[in-house]
Amino acid sequence: MSSHTDNTPESDSESINFFDPAAAAHPQPVFERLRKQCPVGNAVPGGAVCISRYDDVLFALRHPEIFSAVMPAGLIGNVRPLIPLHVDPPEQVKYRKFLDPLFSNKNVLKMEKDVREIASNLVSRFADEDGCEFNSAFAIPYPSTVFLRLMGLPEDDLEYFLGLKNAIIRPEADSPQQEVKIRNETGQEIYAYFDKFLDKLEKSPRDDLLSLFITAEVGGERMSREEVLDICYLFLLGGLDTVTSTLGCMVSYLAQHADRRQSLLDDPALLESAIEEMLRWETPVVQVVRTLTQDHTMGGVELKKGDAVTLVLGSANTDDEQFANAQEVNFERTPNKHIAFGGGPHRCLGSHLSRMELRVALEEFHKRVPEYAIKQGETPVYSHAIREVTYLPLQFGEGQK
Ligand code: HEM
Repeated sequence: MSSHTDNTPESDSESINFFDPAAAAHPQPVFERLRKQCPVGNAVPGGAVCISRYDDVLFALRHPEIFSAVMPAGLIGNVRPLIPLHVDPPEQVKYRKFLDPLFSNKNVLKMEKDVREIASNLVSRFADEDGCEFNSAFAIPYPSTVFLRLMGLPEDDLEYFLGLKNAIIRPEADSPQQEVKIRNETGQEIYAYFDKFLDKLEKSPRDDLLSLFITAEVGGERMSREEVLDICYLFLLGGLDTVTSTLGCMVSYLAQHADRRQSLLDDPALLESAIEEMLRWETPVVQVVRTLTQDHTMGGVELKKGDAVTLVLGSANTDDEQFANAQEVNFERTPNKHIAFGGGPHRCLGSHLSRMELRVALEEFHKRVPEYAIKQGETPVYSHAIREVTYLPLQFGEGQK
């Protein structure tokens, strides 16, 4: 048995650094090496312990009493833990009991008409052009506009909103100290924005999600203002970037695989399972973090109480032990038990909403722009950590195969 600190592979360690931006565009071979060489351990010398096999990752997600999601406040400009992500069961369960029905498939489908209108309006802005930069033209504004409508926030605030989110997730700073400063200042601005809005709503509640948050009972009592703010903060950060990234990864994949895109045009009924398969293959939220609450042995490696571990969802989703022909993209794959939305008690609250947003977006985009490819001579740019395609230049029209 080895302790995690001496579990760095002796050679080739650079090649399994999936944090390397160069690996972000095609991380699957890196994940394969990670699973083979270092399924539980420090993939990079001095880095966090990575857990990369499907069964191990799922075990950790399902056992918060050993692998806790509780995080100290302050890492992303927040002054308190985000709810429900940074709270473990049993306390977390009362929030999910309240939130889950609001984000059920049935409720989400009621929003589809509105969401389709948002998608179709955005596509109309560029569909008659020769091409577009997909991230700025669609993938960024789309989920944010959906979010503002869902929450009952003014759509005129879109740009302001995107600015707040970006300053937290990707602060433009010259030094780590400046990053912290920008995040903290932006965090205060986010709390103040929602606080002011909630003051107004308290006087005249409406038929939207935020009004429900301030009037509903959770675990037998009304939520405090802080609790509502801590949920809003997480929604702003968790619900926007993830859909942007996923959509970018999917459109980039389809732009580079004309035969697969054509199969969706030929058989629209394939779209839902194709979305699941692209979620598995691309896994835009590559990893999530946990902290050990006790000593625990996994894969022959002793993990110590207090250790931080990285659960590599992207690697779990391409594990040959779990998926037949895991390295092949198969739009008809069944079953497809991918964990792109996580698993266990913290499994994504927004999975139904995301699936609907993704399906509607691809339907509306393909309706107006059935043929597209990466613009000649250009290369899409992927960010690591959350795999956003920050630059996705597309060329439209017949012959873009
Ligand atoms: C395709 C888009 C999305 C992906 C890939 C995604 C992925 C994830 C993942 C992997 C987790 C688990 C985090 C962990 O275990 O540490 C998670 C949690 C969460 N997601 Fe999403 N997400 C997406 C969209 C959304 C949306 C649109 C919302 C808006 C409501 C949302 C809200 C949440 C919340 C509130 C949690 C925390 C749940 C809890 O801790 O109980 N997500 N998401």
